[in-house]
Amino acid sequence: MSTSILRAAVDRRLEPWFDHLGEDRIGYTNHVLRVLRLCDVLAAAYGFEPVPSEREEFLTSAAFHDLGVWTAGTFDYLAPSVDLAVAWLRDIARPDLIPVVTNMIGEHHRLRSAAAPSDRVEIFRRADAVDVEMGRLGRFGVSRAEYRRLEAEFPDAGFHRRLLQLGAKRLRTHPLSPLPMIKW
Ligand SMILES: [Fe+2]
Repeated sequence: MSTSILRAAVDRRLEPWFDHLGEDRIGYTNHVLRVLRLCDVLAAAYGFEPVPSEREEFLTSAAFHDLGVWTAGTFDYLAPSVDLAVAWLRDIARPDLIPVVTNMIGEHHRLRSAAAPSDRVEIFRRADAVDVEMGRLGRFGVSRAEYRRLEAEFPDAGFHRRLLQLGAKRLRTHPLSPLPMIKW
């Protein structure tokens, strides 16, 4: 899928929430786009047809996976993000995808593997992890050069700084539960 079509597909899902995203809109949208491209890279070994970025469950999981941060105003955002994705799937008459999308979003911050490497839930988890670490560790076989190409196409636009700010705020307000979205 061309970048402009992919961007339009993501924007269609995020448009109702542009006001909530405010100045973080570009940063979040580009994070979503990098994650989708990373899903394609990580799925390449498993013969996905069509590729993840052309599949409804990946487009929807990616677009909504962190959105609860802005719409619900909380760092405990997995459940609100799942709710938004489920509402979208009902709107487009794809309730069949609700179970897998619920898992893809709900498990995406698990620190250990969530499923087999070829499983959609695990591909999505790994793609987000690579992007949160900005490809630094060369994790899951995504080379630094490959990540740099994605970063050039979809600039960070302050997204990682924003995550750190939100994390610091959460730590001040909830010292005993700083990272509620992380699962072991
Ligand atoms: Fe994310």
